[in-house]
Amino acid sequence: MKGLHRLEYRGYDSAGICLVNPELTIYKCKGKVSELEHFVKGQDVSGTVGMAHTRWATHGEPNQINAHPHISQNKSLAIIHNGIIENYASLRSELMNRGYKFVSETDTEVLIHLVEDIQINEDIELEEAVRIALNQVIGAYAIVILSKDNPNKIIAARKGSPLVIGIGKGEFFVASDATPIIEYTNNVVFMDDEEIATIERDKPLKIKTIKNKKKTPYIQKLELSLSAIEKGGFDHFMLKEIYEQPRSVKDSMRGRLNADMGIVHLGGIREYEQKLLNAKRIIITACGTSWHAALVGEYLIEELARIPVEVEYSSEFRYRNPVLYEDDVVIAISQSGETADTLAAIELAKSKAATVLGICNVVGSSIARATHAGVYTHAGPEIGVASTKSFTSQVMILTLMALQIAQEKGTIARSRFHQILTELNTIPKKIERILLLNDQIQEIARIYKDVTNSLYLGRGYNFPVALEGALKMKEISYVHAEGYPAAEMKHGPIALIDDQMPVVVIATKKGSYEKVISNIQEVKARKGKIIAIITEGDVTVKKLADHSIEIPETEEMLVPLLATIPLQLLSYHIAVMRNCNVDQPRNLAKSVTVE
Ligand code: G6P
Repeated sequence: MKGLHRLEYRGYDSAGICLVNPELTIYKCKGKVSELEHFVKGQDVSGTVGMAHTRWATHGEPNQINAHPHISQNKSLAIIHNGIIENYASLRSELMNRGYKFVSETDTEVLIHLVEDIQINEDIELEEAVRIALNQVIGAYAIVILSKDNPNKIIAARKGSPLVIGIGKGEFFVASDATPIIEYTNNVVFMDDEEIATIERDKPLKIKTIKNKKKTPYIQKLELSLSAIEKGGFDHFMLKEIYEQPRSVKDSMRGRLNADMGIVHLGGIREYEQKLLNAKRIIITACGTSWHAALVGEYLIEELARIPVEVEYSSEFRYRNPVLYEDDVVIAISQSGETADTLAAIELAKSKAATVLGICNVVGSSIARATHAGVYTHAGPEIGVASTKSFTSQVMILTLMALQIAQEKGTIARSRFHQILTELNTIPKKIERILLLNDQIQEIARIYKDVTNSLYLGRGYNFPVALEGALKMKEISYVHAEGYPAAEMKHGPIALIDDQMPVVVIATKKGSYEKVISNIQEVKARKGKIIAIITEGDVTVKKLADHSIEIPETEEMLVPLLATIPLQLLSYHIAVMRNCNVDQPRNLAKSVTVE
């Protein structure tokens, strides 16, 4: 149960558990892990081999029947699964023709009937039956299978969806990521695609591929502390993670930036530095909040390093046969390092011989391993489903990358380079000052907590900030929010503005400051309410706005590192006041391992 709670951020539609004691005992129910805990109270939950699952529904609504684990027809096998079996419909009808009855609407159930069918017909070991079954499967999976006839054995396999095995003293743990494992052991094996693990009591871990090739498990020591994945006195993970940002951006810079000596150096991409310097084009691909960081990256790299940059949603890029050349550099950004669409975009880019670099937070994740090289953000574990500290850390890494290329290419003057480096060092302290505005932001939230619509506007570097602010608002408080380039407002969204509509404008000094003031006037003329993010001491916008939140002055290109923070707090407080589940918003999941 503790392990399930740690993984709950990945999905929370339904939950279930299976124990070998000595029959396969299964308890499952709709809803969160806490519902399951309630459900099993007073039941016999003893056993030393078991598995549990928390689901984010793909096939079949999130009800008790569709919850995992699923069992085979003869009730001797049970499975939990993360991913999607794409050819499940044809496998299902084949199995139905052979007399198998399906109780759920899931793609997962197909797998366990298939394993049973192979095992019965061929009289072979469980792991061999799983191997043969997986050779017939198209799609993505991380699976665990238990068998009542092999009570001391667990079979686990992965393709596309992550799976980690923890090796303790006389005990094993299998999970989608390391968070449920680290309180028991730091020794882990990250499974690779198409690998099957056989875990047996009192025996060493065995791994082979689905093509039947033996592999030697590579045991890694994880450096992850328990306190990093706990709330530490905060009401929500999201709030804790917002408050961690002075530290997390510092950790992203640590060892990579020396302002006094004028050095920026990202060790992870050293071998590919020439590729970056010679790149005719950089393509950044990502999803969600990471895609917003990518947009800031586009502005930074084009301005500083003068290399054309394109930003692509991974889900679009992977399916539209994009033009890619060998001298293109593709940068994939992902907090989790597991987003299925981003992984597929990477594979596509690699197949066209482009160099692929990663910017990931989770060490050892699939994307970190699939890319040619990369940089870790070092933001620390992010548990709240809405991404906060990951965004600022990703932007920080992109800033360092742009500066490093610019310096090597000579597209930036030495004095300007120093100036930006010195300013970067001040960012953590400036974030601390913004966090002191929490009470003021909470008051603004109180005024607008009942709105149904909101608009976020920004120009230049603040345009991606507007998009990110709007995303935070809709994902955790379910208030419809649109982010727009401020000047584009007049081509559509202005029609929505009335005296009920809050318009959040990022109107910091520098850049298109004067132009943004005109946009504010346009909103005011239509009686919209203005919440402005302004530079400390600015009286002009303050006079125009209904509310203003003052943030410290910085370089224009570094404003996203600061201006995003009050927007995170604003959506957080509105969500809390609307009684929304901040850390686990409805229908969302932190790590989207399905396409
Ligand atoms: C999900 C999360 C978002 C995240 C996006 C991309 O939608 O809820 O917070 O930005 O996936 O995830 P990644 O791990 O690739 O950055």
